[in-house]
Amino acid sequence: MDKEELIEKAFDAMKNAYAPYSGYHVGACLLTKQGNLYLGANIENASFGATSCAERNAVFSAYSNGVRRDEIEALAIVSDGPRIATPCGICRQVLSELLNPDTPIYLSNGKEQMTTNAAELLPLAFAPEDVL
Ligand code: THU
Repeated sequence: MDKEELIEKAFDAMKNAYAPYSGYHVGACLLTKQGNLYLGANIENASFGATSCAERNAVFSAYSNGVRRDEIEALAIVSDGPRIATPCGICRQVLSELLNPDTPIYLSNGKEQMTTNAAELLPLAFAPEDVL
């Protein structure tokens, strides 16, 4: 599966966003080296802090099904906003631990597109080595 197809799958995932409070829809699709896909959408809550972002949901879904970071090929994150949505701080922390530092992360809002990775998104990350 190429980058454009993965981004398209993330837009499909975005259709399942539950975002009655922000009206801002985000979708994510994680591709494994085996070719499996794990989708995520942002799921909001009336207690706003309980909201869970699309990319975290996709990555947690993959991990919940036994996928680990060496098996991850790429992650696409898309939104319907005027600007490309870059992951929030909490998601950057999660991505820095659960993805390899150089695994491609594709961002798109349907008009613009960019490629980044966890190392670029969160330099000087607090990491497992700091705790273990
Ligand atoms: N959101 C994501 O799902 N991912 C991002 O990268 C940025 C923000 C969600 C959280 C919330 O449901 C809405 O977008 C507005 O912040």
